[in-house]
Amino acid sequence: MTPDLMEAGAKRRAEHRERAERGSSGDRGAAWGRPVGREPDFAHGVALYLDDVTVSFDGFKALNRLSLSIDVGELRCIIGPNGAGKTTMMDCITGKTRPDAGRISFGSTIDLLRLNEPAIAQIGIGRKFQKPTVYERLTVFENLELSLAADRRVRAALRARLSGAERDRIAEVMALIHLQDEAACSAGLLSHGQKQWLEIGMLLMQDPKLLLLDEPVAGMTDEETERTAELFLSLAGRHSLVVVEHDMHFVEQLTQGRRKVTVLHEGSVLAEGLLSQVQADERVVEVYLGR
Ligand SMILES: Nc1ncnc2c1ncn2[C@@H]1O[C@H](COP(=O)(O)OP(=O)(O)OP(=O)(O)O)[C@@H](O)[C@H]1O
Ligand SMILES: [Mg+2]
Repeated sequence: MTPDLMEAGAKRRAEHRERAERGSSGDRGAAWGRPVGREPDFAHGVALYLDDVTVSFDGFKALNRLSLSIDVGELRCIIGPNGAGKTTMMDCITGKTRPDAGRISFGSTIDLLRLNEPAIAQIGIGRKFQKPTVYERLTVFENLELSLAADRRVRAALRARLSGAERDRIAEVMALIHLQDEAACSAGLLSHGQKQWLEIGMLLMQDPKLLLLDEPVAGMTDEETERTAELFLSLAGRHSLVVVEHDMHFVEQLTQGRRKVTVLHEGSVLAEGLLSQVQADERVVEVYLGR
């Protein structure tokens, strides 16, 4: 090998080493595509903690020193008028939007602001967007099967043989989302509500510790809404859930007169307490009537 080539090789190795070292410094880019070694610690009973989080869009504060804490296993409804910052809050938790200031932690040890979107999903935070994104041409079973191995190539995942435990888990999730009779049905043929459940089922296959659900019953029939409430109630305890919703009847079903709700307004918490308490709060009445 010529001295020139040796030199070039040494330079490349040095650059590689430098990149690897930069990568382990823990910035948001560093976690890209890499499994996160540390498990979240829930021993203190807190699943999610937002502290003084601010997000500005061209000077407008979509979140304004927002602080909020969700307990392990808690089902928390977040309500608030349009533009209150509810979706922006979820964007910050899942790494889609980077806050200007504040802290967000998962359990007591994981700083979510140091992780990117895939890494945040990987440590156990699942997010349901409003529009269902199921694979319409695949069956219900296949959609769930794919979610078992979200990081494997699609065809490889479908060809791989399922273990007994995996089949049991798919059956368990299909029962939870009331789709056991539709196992062999193409997802494209499901009703809007059933597609929403399937997508929730796909999230559940990953066994997330925290589920974020943004307006999950929008467009559902009353019966589907009621079933969704039952589903979420059955998930609480095993998972922590944050549900953003405008449908007050649904919120009432979820809170059962005993769970706390949080009212967001102009990017901060306006009120927190039982639904009956916040609904009687004059400031809450004002922001709802004032829109
Ligand atoms: N990417 C963005 N660029 C500029 N402004 C944004 C952006 N995302 C959100 N906003 C603004 O931030 C504010 C909060 O929006 P957000 O979508 O979080 O509200 P929301 O509480 O989810 O409302 P809704 O109940 O209508 O869904 C709004 O005024 C919105 O216009
Ligand atoms: Mg929203």
